Amino acid sequence: MREKVKRVVFENPSSEQAIVYMQKHNAALAVAVGHTPRCYVLTFGCQQNVADSEKLAGIAVAMGYEITERPDEADLILVNTCAIREHAEKRALSIVGQFKHLKEKKRELIIGVCGCMVVQKHRCDQLKKSYPYVDFVLAPSALHRLPEQIVLRLKGKRRLFECEDEFAIAEQVPMVRDGHYRAYVSIMYGCNNFCSYCIVPYVRGRERSRNPEDVIGEVRDLVKRGYKDITLLGQNVNSYGKGEEHGVDFAELLARLDAIEGDFVLRLMTSHPKDATRRLIDVMAEGKHIAHHFHLPLQSGNDRVLMAMNRHYDRETYLSILEYMRKKIPDIAVTTDIIVAFPGEDDNAFEDTLSMLRIGKFDMIYSFIYSPRKGTPAAEMENKVPKEVAAARMERLLSVQEGVAERISQKLVGMDYRVLCDGPSKTDEGMLSGRNGQNKIIFWPDDGTKAGEWADIHVDRATPYALYGKRIGFEEEKKFIIKKSEED
Ligand code: 5AD
Ligand code: SF4
Repeated sequence: MREKVKRVVFENPSSEQAIVYMQKHNAALAVAVGHTPRCYVLTFGCQQNVADSEKLAGIAVAMGYEITERPDEADLILVNTCAIREHAEKRALSIVGQFKHLKEKKRELIIGVCGCMVVQKHRCDQLKKSYPYVDFVLAPSALHRLPEQIVLRLKGKRRLFECEDEFAIAEQVPMVRDGHYRAYVSIMYGCNNFCSYCIVPYVRGRERSRNPEDVIGEVRDLVKRGYKDITLLGQNVNSYGKGEEHGVDFAELLARLDAIEGDFVLRLMTSHPKDATRRLIDVMAEGKHIAHHFHLPLQSGNDRVLMAMNRHYDRETYLSILEYMRKKIPDIAVTTDIIVAFPGEDDNAFEDTLSMLRIGKFDMIYSFIYSPRKGTPAAEMENKVPKEVAAARMERLLSVQEGVAERISQKLVGMDYRVLCDGPSKTDEGMLSGRNGQNKIIFWPDDGTKAGEWADIHVDRATPYALYGKRIGFEEEKKFIIKKSEED
């Protein structure tokens, strides 16, 4: 039996006391500096971190800060870090390094480093020793203790580097959401899978799920406030509910969320094949609101490598999930994660991954070169793949996938989709962009559609990575139907 999960509500006496202290502190600071104190939050990594940063911002506002996009005008800087690959850690450390001169200019500036990186002892020690202008660290599941941490720092003279994670679940944490129509809702935290390459179970702790009524309440509230695109988040969303007393699994939770009235789409990120049950796929197939998109990380197409990765499935099992998914939901888009050059991946094993791309026909892949993570079993494995081999394999992987994606995209020319507009395209002047239920990016000429509004788009052109089209006229919109592509 696992340890009992610590569940806390944000509004408890000790955090309230700290918030009142900070509000007074910030009111005095505002008088001294002539403006409301400002907080800058910088985020690295996955959507879970984006959602955590929305909480950090929400707590900062509760303490009397306003949010700024400019670190040079901030009085509080929070860097929310990622530990998944070395590159992410290096970037975070380099940016923290750049904040040194800001502290030299403004001695009362407070700098906190949060997120997965700081839970690793060697990184925490490094921050303490080599970054003397960092005031404190805060573990991902202790974010709700931000006010207490800052008060401790302000009252005491010590910098705070106890980065033990308490692996709690905090409810009712205030949030400043990044958008007004797309929202992330964390439903579970941590991971029990211990894939041999992955640091997540060590830095985010054991799996624990929020209570279904808290999740349902949050989604219902978002829909009422006009949010149209809601992503359920977790390191393994489909392990939701395991080991919890409430007995609601992910398929059941999804079915209950789908029953909420309103005009919205529900997405999920991310899943593990071992928990991609038929019942979950059936619920997705029957849903009114559930997006026809499944992100199902494969990691490798070779059974020996999958075993060494501790993934608990083989090629055949993975393909049988795909087959069932596509039978039940013919227009489903499937995306995946691939790790290239895992220790012991020889040419044959890599060819197996390429063949899985061709057979699996993924709409998109996220691919990564294996990055050793200190403390994980794979970091100790022999037969590391040389850098040049890894780079060449990555190039081939991307080129094979480009061919697969090109064929999939071309089949979608002629389709009509309901698209949630994200506003003007960042790359194509005069064009709008948005995403459909399959999470495909679609561009069309700017017709005045605002970000957060739906538009029905007829696709007339495609590249491997995007679809292009035109808005369907009003008359056509009234009799709008999803057309089948002629080739299907
Ligand atoms: N090296 C490279 N990629 C990794 N991932 C996780 N850990 C590592 C690592 N050590 C990838 C996996 C996972 C995605 C979020 O990041 O593909 O699904
Ligand atoms: Fe990491 Fe594997 Fe857990 Fe995903 S399932 S977070 S890859 S350990």
